[in-house]
Amino acid sequence: MTQVLAFDVYGTLIDTLGVLTELEQRLDALGKMALAPEFSRRWRDKQLEYSFRRGLMGGYVPFSQCTEEALVFTDRALQVGLSETDRAHLMQAYARLPAFADVAGALRRLSEAGVTCVAFSNGTGQAVEGLLEQAGIRDHFETVISADEVKRFKPDPAVYAHLRYRLESEPGDTWLVSSNPFDVIGARHAGLHAAWVRRSAEAPFDPWGIDPDLTVGDLATLAERLG
Ligand code: 2OP
Repeated sequence: MTQVLAFDVYGTLIDTLGVLTELEQRLDALGKMALAPEFSRRWRDKQLEYSFRRGLMGGYVPFSQCTEEALVFTDRALQVGLSETDRAHLMQAYARLPAFADVAGALRRLSEAGVTCVAFSNGTGQAVEGLLEQAGIRDHFETVISADEVKRFKPDPAVYAHLRYRLESEPGDTWLVSSNPFDVIGARHAGLHAAWVRRSAEAPFDPWGIDPDLTVGDLATLAERLG
């Protein structure tokens, strides 16, 4: 039975720490370089918090708006004083993030094993298409499936139901692959299989008792296990 693997994008295929370089330059110019790691972490956390809150409120906006508004909030919270130009350059950097080094080899191996791979993200189809293209990995995916198609965000069950609808796949044949525990738990709760890509050995998982079917440290190991 050919399995289908749906790969989360930000943090799983694409290294969001790639923004750190641009952030360090912008903060250094303001004499606040030391804040870069905290700024990057808080920006990502607030971006996801905004998607969760908007999902709960029924106030959907494109994920890029969550990203930009989280950038403005983090700037205010840390009292950095970024200019409009700074913010524009940081948002452009977010659209030009690099792929992790293990993606191409793992996806080639999965393709050779007859596994269908798709990209699956909160990001809009257009944003993710551009991001994967500039990262040089778009060709490894049969298609891009976006939560934007149902105007909801992960981990809303409607988003995982939409994934299965688009793939015309059964829960037992469908795997979510993500480095984000909230995404892994959301997929398992929706009846899909899920693999957690624990890219940092120190990364904790939520103590909910809803665990990944598989935990790997990188995509090469995932390809060995599921290919
Ligand atoms: C995604 O790409 C937010 O990482 C999450 O959907």
